[in-house]
Formats: sequence, C-alpha cells, structure tokens
Amino acid sequence: MKRILVTGASGLLGLNFCLAETSHHSIVGVDRGKLSGTPFELIQADLLTPNAPDRVLEMARPDAVIHTAANANVDACETDPQGARRMNAELPGELAQACAKKDIQFIHISTDAVFDGTLQGVYTENDIPNPLGVYAQTKLAGEQNVLSANPRAMVARVNFFGWSLPGTRSLSEFFFNKLSTGEQCNGFTDIFFCPLFVGDLADTLLLMLDKNLSGLYHVIGSEALSKYDFGQHIARQFGFNPALVIPRSVEDSGLKARRSHNLRLSINKLSTDLGSTIPNVSTGIERFYTQAQQGYPQKMRSYQQV
Ligand SMILES: NC(=O)c1ccc[n+]([C@@H]2O[C@H](COP(=O)([O-])OP(=O)(O)OC[C@H]3O[C@@H](n4cnc5c(N)ncnc54)[C@H](OP(=O)(O)O)[C@@H]3O)[C@@H](O)[C@H]2O)c1
Repeated sequence: MKRILVTGASGLLGLNFCLAETSHHSIVGVDRGKLSGTPFELIQADLLTPNAPDRVLEMARPDAVIHTAANANVDACETDPQGARRMNAELPGELAQACAKKDIQFIHISTDAVFDGTLQGVYTENDIPNPLGVYAQTKLAGEQNVLSANPRAMVARVNFFGWSLPGTRSLSEFFFNKLSTGEQCNGFTDIFFCPLFVGDLADTLLLMLDKNLSGLYHVIGSEALSKYDFGQHIARQFGFNPALVIPRSVEDSGLKARRSHNLRLSINKLSTDLGSTIPNVSTGIERFYTQAQQGYPQKMRSYQQV
C-alpha cells in the first residue's frame, strides 16, 4: 500500500482518483475547503501560498504525488494569463523539485491541447507541440518545468470524462445535463479527440506509478471520435434522443480560446511500457452510465462542504 498525495482533490480528476483508489492505498487529498466527510484524508491548502509545496509534503509524508490541481478553465485562462502561468507553469515545477529533494514519486497531469491539431495523423510524444491559447501554453511550460526540475517525474497528457462535484465539469456531464432535460445542444463535428473515462485514467495512473515510469506519456483513450459522435454515444447509452445533439463547427461556437481540430494522440508508448491495452470510449461510457445507476454522482456531492 502506497501513501499518495493528490492535489486538486475537489476537481474532476482529483476527486474521482481519490474515491476510486482509497480502498487500495492511503490517500491524502489537498483541498481548499470544498470537501468534508470524505473516505480519505484531507489537507487544506492553497498551493499558491508561500512554501505550500514543502508544507503539504511535510504534513502528508507521501510516497507519491499526483498533481492534478490546475487552472483548467481554457477560456478563463485567456483573461488571466498571469494567474494561469503561476498555477499551470510555475507551481508544477516547484512541486516537482520539492518531490525530487525528498525522493517522492511525482506524476504531473498535462493536456492533449499542447498540439495545434494541424497534423494529418496521430501525434506521438516525439512530435513538437504548438499550443494555441494561454491554457495550453502554460500547460506546456508546466511540463517543461517539471521535467527539468525532476527528470524522474512522469508527465501525463490526458483527456478524460466522468462525474464531478459541481456536476458540470466534464463534456459527458454537459451532454447528460442537456439531453436529460430534453434540451438541444451543439456537438462539434470538427474536433477529434481520444477521451478516457476518469476511472480508467485513475487505474492507469496507478499502474504507471507501480511500474515507476518516468518522462512524457500520452494517457488517453484508445479510440478517436468527434465531439459530436461522443454526444451521440452518451445519448444512446442513456436512452436520450440523439437528434437533440446538433452537428456544428467549433468555428461558429463563439468560444474565447482557439481549439485544436485534431487531438488524435498515439498511446503506443504507454501500452508498450505498461504491457496492457487501454480501454476504449464505449466501455468508458458504459462505466459512466453504471455509476449514474448506482447513485455515484449523488454520493460524490454528499462530500461537498455546505
Ligand atoms: N478535464 C479534462 O478533460 C482535461 C483535459 C486535459 C487536461 N486536463 C488536466 O487535468 C488536470 C485535472 O483537471 P480537472 O478537469 O480535474 O480540473 P478541475 O476540475 O478544474 O479541478 C482543478 C482542481 O485544482 C484545484 N486548485 C486550483 N487552484 C488551486 C490552488 N491555488 N491551490 C490548491 N488547489 C487548487 C481546484 O480546487 P478548487 O475546487 O478549490 O477550485 C480543483 O480541485 C488539470 O491539470 C488539467 O489541466 C483536464
């Protein structure tokens, strides 16, 4: 059993990771006061306060850290580039360095959005990124700061979906919330991505920790599809009307930050080094559906501080 410190414990990835792995490992989550009564330990800290990385490591004394905390709101980053740089670029380097000094395993969570999407094909870890907006630029700088401060660190470029504390954080929840009330919603036909169910991502990150992997990895689903097709999948799985998902181009969406059209990433390096296959989107959406049937979103919300 490992002692694992998870930053961003109230976030989409952080909370799902903590809840999924708490029966196998000793989990400590870093939170800013949104959670209470969780089945895992909590440390309250704003990671941007002076000495916070050293302080939380001293309090938790973990074997490994999974750093999920970020400013992950792509459009909000455009209006606060300095704040995004502090959170997404500088803090990861500081945490990675603090872990290196104490010989603690470190996994940093990055994004598929570091690529501009102009490649006609599938991006590997050897392809040169070209981030389009502030969020992606600061995430790429975070990757570089982590690996130069701590060459034994692992950087995972991810894209995932699942249930979240506010019920609105993921693309799967966006489609669920609209379709379950009979509302029409846009599905982009010109953005292709490889989403992984957050529970599968949590399990994969643990396997990577167990294998002591280091360096850069694409940790995404094994299948590419458009955001429109993803919405259709969610509709069919839940028995909603798929015609409510309207095919649209992202270029007509009015979103603030530019988005890459092609986020097809190769997982060959990951599956080779793990010696196992990575789940596809259909099994992930089935697990997402099963969690809804089992009341998982409500259980998750019962940990929200009132
Ligand atoms: N969602 C996706 O599909 C996706 C795709 C690609 C990459 N990623 C990456 O995956 C990681 C996790 O994303 P997510 O979707 O889980 O994000 P999220 O739901 O927005 O969660 C972000 C977490 O970071 C915490 N946080 C922010 N500022 C903090 C601070 N100063 N001190 C302490 N904690 C702070 C937040 O705490 P509060 O709740 O208190 O604000 C929250 O727990 C991020 O690195 C993101 O860039 C996500």
